[in-house]
Amino acid sequence: MPINIKNKDEQEKMRVAGQLASEVLTMISNHIRPGVSTKELDDICNNFIVNEQKTVPANVGYRGFPATICTSVNHVVCHGIPNEKKLKNGDIINIDVTVIKDGFHGDTSRMFIVGKPTKQGERISQIAYESLCKGIKAVKPGNKLGDIGYAIQSHAEKNYFSIVKDYCGHGIGEIYHDEPQILHYGTPDTGIELKEGMTFTIEPMINSGKADVRVLSDEWTVVTKDHSLSAQWEHTILVTKKGYEVLTLAPNESI
Ligand code: MF3
Ligand code: CO
Ligand code: CO
Repeated sequence: MPINIKNKDEQEKMRVAGQLASEVLTMISNHIRPGVSTKELDDICNNFIVNEQKTVPANVGYRGFPATICTSVNHVVCHGIPNEKKLKNGDIINIDVTVIKDGFHGDTSRMFIVGKPTKQGERISQIAYESLCKGIKAVKPGNKLGDIGYAIQSHAEKNYFSIVKDYCGHGIGEIYHDEPQILHYGTPDTGIELKEGMTFTIEPMINSGKADVRVLSDEWTVVTKDHSLSAQWEHTILVTKKGYEVLTLAPNESI
């Protein structure tokens, strides 16, 4: 199947959706503290998206997902369902949000550290972020998907973290999870060639222990089999003439 190339008008809509998604994470960062539950964070995000941004929270009802954000705490790898449990000092949490504006999706996630950081929490979050950045820097026309995967995998493994292989990034636009799959591991100069106007996410998950994961009986929550810590960051990316544009960039962030 051919990969969907966005024209200038569609790229602008992706830019707007990306910035709205980023704005949700910046907003919710001020609410993350020991004692708050992930359900409370979910309600705040839902209210902000629906009533302030007047956009659509893409996760609600997506394949039956019951919430606006995914909240993945400590050994939860991804797709954590918000619940009544309170966050505590030193927890690490990934918050993943997607909004739809004018029919286009913006998908992004960040790690947050609750209260006083632990050494391991800070380290895994940092290396996951650096791995995402290495992947993004491999994006330019003529490069291939394998170059992105290789950049991410080598950085994570050099630092003794393992790459989760069961979940990947994805093409994105009017379709939430579109082709191609963006693997977070790979071999240089292999796979589909990048072309100006492609939009996709990069969202590596890394574990402090083994790469193996399993899905809980709620059919969503993905955890590390060995209960080791896991971290993930995600951006939505546009391939430009010269390289890349990060559509979900945070304020003061530059990659
Ligand atoms: N936002 C996630 C991703 O990065 C997907 C979440 S689907 C949900 O692709 F249903 F769990 F919300
Ligand atoms: Co995604
Ligand atoms: Co996401």
